[in-house]
Amino acid sequence: MRKFGPTRRAVVAGMLAAGATGQAAVGSGTPSLQALAAAKGRRFGAAVSAADLSDPRMRALLSAECDMLVCQTEMKWRHLRPNARDWRFGDADRIAAFAGRHGLGLRGHTLLWHHPDYTPEWLHRHDFGRRPIAAAETMLTDHIRMVAARYPQVASWDVVNEAVHHETGNLRDTPFARILGERTLHIAFYTARATAPGAQLVYNDYMNWGDHQEAHRRGVLRLLERFRRDSVPCDALGIQSHLKVLGGPNAGGELARRVKVWRAFLKEVTDLGYDLLVTEFDVSDEAAPGEPAVRDQLVAEVGRAFLDETLSTRRAGDVLAWGMVDPLSWLQGFTPRPDGLPQRPTLFDGDYRPKPLRAAVAAALAQAARYHRGVK
Ligand code: XIL
Repeated sequence: MRKFGPTRRAVVAGMLAAGATGQAAVGSGTPSLQALAAAKGRRFGAAVSAADLSDPRMRALLSAECDMLVCQTEMKWRHLRPNARDWRFGDADRIAAFAGRHGLGLRGHTLLWHHPDYTPEWLHRHDFGRRPIAAAETMLTDHIRMVAARYPQVASWDVVNEAVHHETGNLRDTPFARILGERTLHIAFYTARATAPGAQLVYNDYMNWGDHQEAHRRGVLRLLERFRRDSVPCDALGIQSHLKVLGGPNAGGELARRVKVWRAFLKEVTDLGYDLLVTEFDVSDEAAPGEPAVRDQLVAEVGRAFLDETLSTRRAGDVLAWGMVDPLSWLQGFTPRPDGLPQRPTLFDGDYRPKPLRAAVAAALAQAARYHRGVK
C-alpha cells in the first residue's frame, strides 16, 4: 500500500492543489468536513470496503475529509464467520491498519446484526444441542469478546443493529431471539461493556422521519426505555440516516412536517438520557426525476434539512457517510432506479468531484450545536 508522506494532511493538500490525483475535489481554501466537525467537538467519517482502499483517489479523499472510518461489511458475522468454527479477519484487519497508519479513528459495525436476513446461513441451521440457552449465550458472548478485543482502538461500537421490526415495532425473530428472547440484546451490551469498557456503546437502527415509520420509531423508543429500566449499558442511539428524496408537488410542506416529527422523536430519545449519532448517512434519489443536476439539488435539500435538525441538539455526536462516491454506493444494487440510471446518493461523484450534498453536509456541520458527550 502506498505511504503518505511525513504529515498526511500536508501531502493530501499538496496533491489536491497540484491536481496530482486527477480530481478537482474540494478547493484548497475550503475547510474539510473533519475540520468543520471538529470545530464543534464531533468527528466526520465514512464507511469503506477493504477493496476501496486500493484506489489512490479514495485514499486521498478519505484522508482529506474524514477522521474516522467504519467497515461497510467486514466486521459483520457473515463476513467474519464462514462457519461456526473459523474466523476471517483479514479484510477488517486491513481497514483497521489503514485507519491506524493515517491517524483515523475506527467505529465498529456491528457486534450483532439482529436481523434474520443478515444472520449467516449456518447460524440459522445451527444445532444448539440439549442446553440451548447456555450454548446460545456462550456463542454470542464468545463472538463479542473475540471481535471487540481484537480492535481495542474502536471508540464506538454498534453493539446491536436493527433489532426492531420496522412494521410491528417488536423484536425481530432470529436464532438467538428464539432461544434467549430480548436477553440476547442485554447479553450483547453487557459483554461489549466488559470487553471494551472505554467505548461508546450504540444501538443502531434505520427509523427515520417518514409517516410509515411511526411503528418503527415507537418500537425503538420502547426498546430504549426498557434498556434504561433494565440498566442495559447502552450509551447512544445510532441513527443510520438512509434518507430518500421526497416526490410530489408539496415536497416542501412535507419536508417541514417531517422535521417536526423528527424533532419530537429525538427529544424523546435524549430525554431518556441517550446520545445520538449519525452512522450511515446517504440520500437515495430513487424517486426523483432523471436530470442529474435536479436530483443533486433535491438530495442536498433533504440531507441538509435532516442534518440541521439532528445536529441542533448538543447530544448529537459523530456523523458518518455510508460511502463517499456515487458509483460505489450500496444503493446502486439495493434500490436501483426504475429508469436504470445510476443513483447519486453520496457526497462525491464518480470523478471524485464534490456534489451539492457535500456542500449541504459542510453547511450543516458548520451550523450544528457543539457536541457535549453525555451532557444534557
Ligand atoms: C450494507 C452494505 O452497504 C452492503 O454492502 C451489504 O451488502 C449489506 O449491508 N444498514 C446497515 C448496514 O446497518 O450494515 C447496511 O450495509 C446498510 C443498511
